[in-house]
Amino acid sequence: MRSTKRQAAVLLATLMGALACGPSDGAARPAERLSAQAGAPGIGDADFPLDGNGGYDVSHYALKLGYTPAGRRLDGVATIQATAKQSLTRFNLDLKGFKVSEVSVDGAAATFSRAGHELTVAPAAPLRQGSAFTVKVAYAGVPQPVVDSSNLGRYGFIPTPDGAFVACEPNGARTWFPGNDHPADKATFDFEITVPKGVTALANGELTGKPRTSGGKTTFTWREAHPMTTYLATATVGKFRLRQGTTPGGIRNLAAVDPKFAGSLDKLYKLSAEITDHWGTVFGRYPFSSTGGVVDDFSAGYALENQTKPLYGGFEPGADIIAHELAHQWFGNSLSIKRWKDLWLNEGFATYAEWLWAEHKGTGTADASFKSFYERPANDSIWAYPPGRARPDDLFNESVYSRGAMTLHALRGAIGDETFFELLKTWTSEHQYGSVTTEQFVALAERMSGKQLDALFDAWLFQPKRPTL
Ligand code: ARG
Ligand code: ZN
Repeated sequence: MRSTKRQAAVLLATLMGALACGPSDGAARPAERLSAQAGAPGIGDADFPLDGNGGYDVSHYALKLGYTPAGRRLDGVATIQATAKQSLTRFNLDLKGFKVSEVSVDGAAATFSRAGHELTVAPAAPLRQGSAFTVKVAYAGVPQPVVDSSNLGRYGFIPTPDGAFVACEPNGARTWFPGNDHPADKATFDFEITVPKGVTALANGELTGKPRTSGGKTTFTWREAHPMTTYLATATVGKFRLRQGTTPGGIRNLAAVDPKFAGSLDKLYKLSAEITDHWGTVFGRYPFSSTGGVVDDFSAGYALENQTKPLYGGFEPGADIIAHELAHQWFGNSLSIKRWKDLWLNEGFATYAEWLWAEHKGTGTADASFKSFYERPANDSIWAYPPGRARPDDLFNESVYSRGAMTLHALRGAIGDETFFELLKTWTSEHQYGSVTTEQFVALAERMSGKQLDALFDAWLFQPKRPTL
């Protein structure tokens, strides 16, 4: 009797403890222990609370896709290799739309549920912290791209008359495969894409074999063997004219254009080669195994630096934008941001690369570009928007690009050309294939220059007014 009573008292105290929010006495409470085992629905980016997921880290995606442009139907099987960062009774994947028919974990059927863009998976047995596991998701349906008319436009897997235009920044990967859709979790990718014969499927990296045709369908297999963020993954499908070869510097090069842009194929091929090779001398060795570009007949209103294959949306790209998208292969793709608020580390650097390209070609100087922006009146919107803190509701604001680039030019002026260009190379080599923050860049700039640069970075990146010179 006594002991039963005591057990009841302990149980009551435990329950009350679990309900109260007071400081922990160190003993794990049952309710806490349970909730600690569910992976968080977001990776921890406060600006995008449900993007990505907590509790695990993906190392590889194998995406087996079938797409029929006529019916706009995508059939997919995603096999995801990951490591549990905590014990997991369940975890989430990001997926928008589709009907999920089957989910397994390590070969055993798992239960799953859907809520908004979250697919919650409960493995048959909990996963132990540190264990490697494989999730397989079978899904099908008509992809629903993201449409953000006020800001980001249309992005994700976008059906076109002859295929699909696939550009996913910032969080459109979920419109065509389940995953950990946030740049903080990078992984390698294999793609096996089956499309009607006569249609080409272009994904990241390189073909791993010859396309196979049978029964009126062709299967393309691509592999990106270097870590990649989900938003840089692509499976752009359609009728394309191709030109393949290697750059003078020895990097495999593939240009692909929609027949409507057939006249720009050679120009895209040559400029992509020349620019990739040139950036290799300025930013350090090219980080991937191939380069190139794709022009599709879809007027996205933007281009995207898809890893190894930038995608240009419905226009013939000139040298400036090719220089921009290829600079992203270092800044954004090899070195990726940990949080979206640091987006200037991608866009400011890629914009500065455009200025450097003009300098290289003798058609302008970075200093002239800087001055033309600096002359803008005090009430111009780039002074009100500090680029060091990209806003979730206006991520790609012009300031993140132009004032981001001006920040680098101001830094160059403060530390001198020699240190500045050494800094760019050190930055890309120290963090190759990794994840970075603004604080890390500032620290490296200070270390390499031996200068206190807080005031400079604060004025350029964080103050809502035009910095004084
Ligand atoms: N990173 C791209 C560029 O600067 C822009 C992507 C914009 N994305 C979007 N959904 N509008 O080239
Ligand atoms: Zn860019």
